[in-house]
Amino acid sequence: MDYLINGGKPLRGVIADYGAKNCALTLLGATVLTDDEVILHNCPDIVDVDNMLKLLQTMGKKIIRCGDTVAVSGALNTLCAPKKIATLLRGSALIMGGAVAKYGRIALPLPGGCAIGSRPMDIHLCGFEEMGVEVMHVEDMLSCKGFPHGAKYKLRFASVGATENLLCACVLAKGDSVLYGCATEPEVAALGQMLSAMGAKIRGVGSAELHISGVNKLHGTEFTVIPDRIVAATYIAAAAATLGEITVTDCVPQHLKAFLDVLRPYFRIKTYDDCVFVGADKTPSGYGEVETAPYPLFPTDMQSLLLTLAALSRGKTVIKEKLFENRLRHNAEQLNKMGANITVTDDTATVWGEKLHAADIVGADLRGGAGLIIAALAAHGKSTVGGIEHVNRGYADLAGNLNALGADVALR
Ligand code: EPU
Repeated sequence: MDYLINGGKPLRGVIADYGAKNCALTLLGATVLTDDEVILHNCPDIVDVDNMLKLLQTMGKKIIRCGDTVAVSGALNTLCAPKKIATLLRGSALIMGGAVAKYGRIALPLPGGCAIGSRPMDIHLCGFEEMGVEVMHVEDMLSCKGFPHGAKYKLRFASVGATENLLCACVLAKGDSVLYGCATEPEVAALGQMLSAMGAKIRGVGSAELHISGVNKLHGTEFTVIPDRIVAATYIAAAAATLGEITVTDCVPQHLKAFLDVLRPYFRIKTYDDCVFVGADKTPSGYGEVETAPYPLFPTDMQSLLLTLAALSRGKTVIKEKLFENRLRHNAEQLNKMGANITVTDDTATVWGEKLHAADIVGADLRGGAGLIIAALAAHGKSTVGGIEHVNRGYADLAGNLNALGADVALR
């Protein structure tokens, strides 16, 4: 699917944020820890969530969806995730910790690499092994066997997915566990909060050190998915790029702090309890040097948004991508087709801002695609942005929302 974008129109108005993909996926993964009903509110209407629900349903869970509320209940009736559905999203790996803790067994297709990098699983798997789980690769399947026991484990990197999977394994493990060097992303904290509401015993939720006392059983709960900080940042970047004025409501400004701090010197930014206003009057003269890192530092998921803003600036920006090795190069090449001046060496993009022109470009991944759409919204003239199927994995009705803010985006 392509977007046909007639760019150069400032975006103005109010847009409401919605539930975070990466929160919804981890909470849905954790529903395998109980047969009771888990009700999730604010579940976004996006392809990745549809596929995660399909996966759970195919494996035996009963799913009822009514608008943005989803109820998940029942037991798994297979411990082998069907390849056809599980390979549609990497988030499918988030059922691993919960399944091995509740059933003592799970087999999943190897998630493998993707457009943004190789994405190994060693931190998840070493952690499971520390907990006494036997991990095997059988052809292209990953298989975990044995009920986990409590353990002390230091993650060699603060991986979001590994923290989430290991936390789910620990909450039903026999004995006490300590996880050191955990990811502290808001989505990980939300998982800790939901597990606690289900009866898990966790100390340190939201911190890098989690102390967990295993319990025998978890019960159902009702929980609300946190707002999507990446979606909020996308609309903010779109306003900044098009020299517009936007208020994003229903978000958590604190979760956007690192991103807003980079933009703040150049734009009118005001934050309130649950909304952010951004007004852009003139094009900035470059954004200095920015490096991606785990939360609360500058997120890799907002890097492609900043790359586009830097490409549109009037000066120099240096962006270092420290998490996913392929996340810079593709977008740099596409933006250069629009007249940008970006050089990528290893993990570093050096950007000299230019006035971009319309072009035919293609997104290769979800966040990269969003960055390119913003470039097309800012560049005068008609651009075609391909690869929209990647963008639909994480954004609900992006074209409709952009058009409501004054953009001219058509679907082909
Ligand atoms: N890593 C390893 N070994 C592991 C796990 C991770 O080396 O066992 C490395 C990765 O290669 C990467 C770094 O650790 O260099 C961070 O990866 P992390 O595990 O934190 O990422 P993830 O859990 O696979 C989640 C989000 C991503 C987001 C990253 C970083 C979900 C479903 N996905 O992925 O979201 O970019 O955290 O914040 O939560 C997206 O939404 O577009 C997206 C890719």
